[in-house]
Amino acid sequence: MAEIRKVGVVGLGAMGAGIAQLCIEAGVDTVGREVSVELGEKARERIGHFLTRKVEKGQLEQGARDEAVGRLTLTTGLDAIAECDLVIEAIVEELEPKQELFAELDRICGPDAVLATNTSALSVTEIAAAASAPGRVVGMHFFNPAPLMPLVEIVRAELTDDGPFEAAFSFGERIGKSPIRCHDTPGFVVNRVLIPLLNDCIRVLDEARVTPEDLDTGLQNGAGWPMGPCTLVDLVGIDVHVHASEALYEKTREPRMAPPPRLVAMRNAGLLGRKSGRGFYSYD
Ligand SMILES: NC(=O)c1ccc[n+]([C@@H]2O[C@H](COP(=O)([O-])OP(=O)(O)OC[C@H]3O[C@@H](n4cnc5c(N)ncnc54)[C@H](O)[C@@H]3O)[C@@H](O)[C@H]2O)c1
Repeated sequence: MAEIRKVGVVGLGAMGAGIAQLCIEAGVDTVGREVSVELGEKARERIGHFLTRKVEKGQLEQGARDEAVGRLTLTTGLDAIAECDLVIEAIVEELEPKQELFAELDRICGPDAVLATNTSALSVTEIAAAASAPGRVVGMHFFNPAPLMPLVEIVRAELTDDGPFEAAFSFGERIGKSPIRCHDTPGFVVNRVLIPLLNDCIRVLDEARVTPEDLDTGLQNGAGWPMGPCTLVDLVGIDVHVHASEALYEKTREPRMAPPPRLVAMRNAGLLGRKSGRGFYSYD
């Protein structure tokens, strides 16, 4: 595989901005593509702000911060992405736009470029099917917030070739993550285990008539969890968790994957957790 000198990140939302930050901090020239100049600039501001906070905390030199920010260029087109050795897609979690994008990336990028998707719940194999060279399509599933969570799941789709798969793994290491290898199955590794487990926890709230505080204390003190399940679901976002549960249920038909009615009701009422100010807990 060709050396990865330049990376493209398509979609600079919650995940894409974090992934772009990791790349520029690791010294990699990065092109970020958003649908509008304003959204791109907003993402750059967020990244700059996070890096400034690292300087304030003594974790980064001011000069290194400025150099990192200088490595990020923004675009709304795809021309600059065509020159990249690795493209990481982090757009909306819907199959059709992702397939359209991969068909286009496959057409414009060089033959050795690796194309990666950060999808959580879609099939990497189905996304790859839109490319005429599906062997170079791989999953790179980062966790939120990407700059802080050490894991990235490197997902092998049905037709992924060894070269691009290992190139994605090595790149994960290069940007400071602890990658693991897995195959393209619903939920990959962590969500396959975590989503039904969190759903069980929420069902226990009603069954055992335990309070969210006591459930969190129970799992922390009785099972060694670093944070309780209600705190975790609030942090992830109740809408994000419900969406992932629905997607996994659709694929596996396992009842434990289905979102508990209590969470669906909270999502419908706009109680989304930390980001909306209220979920199981209140955040002022
Ligand atoms: N949020 C999470 O916890 C999480 C965790 C792991 C993986 N993911 C996955 O990452 C992907 C992105 O999720 P997110 O939470 O960052 O979403 P988000 O809504 O915060 O960001 C998506 C961004 O993509 C942009 N976009 C849409 N279409 C585009 C296109 N064609 N070209 C360029 N930009 C485009 C949107 O303007 C938006 O800013 C999804 O596939 C999601 O499943 C999310």
